[in-house]
Amino acid sequence: MNLRNTEDRYGAVAQLLHWGMLILFIALYLIAESMEDLPKGPDKFELIGLHKSLGVTALLLVLARVGWRFVSPAPATAADLSPLQQRMAGILHILLYICMFAMPITGYVMSMAGGHPIEVFGLFSLPDLVGESHDLKEFAEEAHEITWVAIMVLVGLHAAAALFHHFVARDSVLRRMLPGGASA
Ligand code: HEM
Ligand code: HEM
Repeated sequence: MNLRNTEDRYGAVAQLLHWGMLILFIALYLIAESMEDLPKGPDKFELIGLHKSLGVTALLLVLARVGWRFVSPAPATAADLSPLQQRMAGILHILLYICMFAMPITGYVMSMAGGHPIEVFGLFSLPDLVGESHDLKEFAEEAHEITWVAIMVLVGLHAAAALFHHFVARDSVLRRMLPGGASA
């Protein structure tokens, strides 16, 4: 399988970044749910620390993903899609990218404005570019939550469309993002 994208399918690097991000999002969500359920104490702080470290990893992953699109341009839109579907898929992808950036950035601002440091896996701390501010912390916390709701709606539509194409329309759309096999 090609590392790079080809004319009609995604290569190994784009696939790894795509499915890796899905796994990371599920982990971030599960950790966020358990950390919010715990009473204040060392266990809670450990989980929050893990959530922040993985969240920063997600930011690095989306930066790598955008960078890779410059190195290896995305394949042409799937030929099986109508012009309207192609346009809708394109808009959905752009909105997903905006959310992939918004989630860690609002997380960063929330922590910094709240006066909490961000240590990445105990290796290094991120610089504070924000400064403490109660109002900004509240705003970023709200934005973090709203962006998450948007992600769930957008990913729901995106995944439903991919599964519809695979199982109902029986075209190549999902296979373009899966290892092996010819795309057409
Ligand atoms: C793509 C990356 C991220 C995802 C998918 C994610 C996801 C979530 C989710 C689902 C929640 C649950 C509560 C809610 O609905 O807001 C949450 C809460 C939280 N996240 Fe993230 N997060 C990410 C990145 C970050 C980063 C980078 C930080 C900080 C450096 C962070 C800090 C927090 C904190 C402190 C909370 C608890 C907020 C509260 O008390 O309401 N997150 N995150
Ligand atoms: C079960 C979950 C998912 C399924 C079944 C799925 C399926 C797919 C498929 C089949 C493609 C290729 C579409 C094409 O031919 O152009 C694709 C591309 C894409 N997906 Fe997903 N996806 C899922 C989750 C996610 C998540 C969680 C995100 C981000 C939050 C995401 C963001 C994207 C983006 C931005 C593209 C455009 C290609 C790129 O730049 O990497 N997907 N997805």
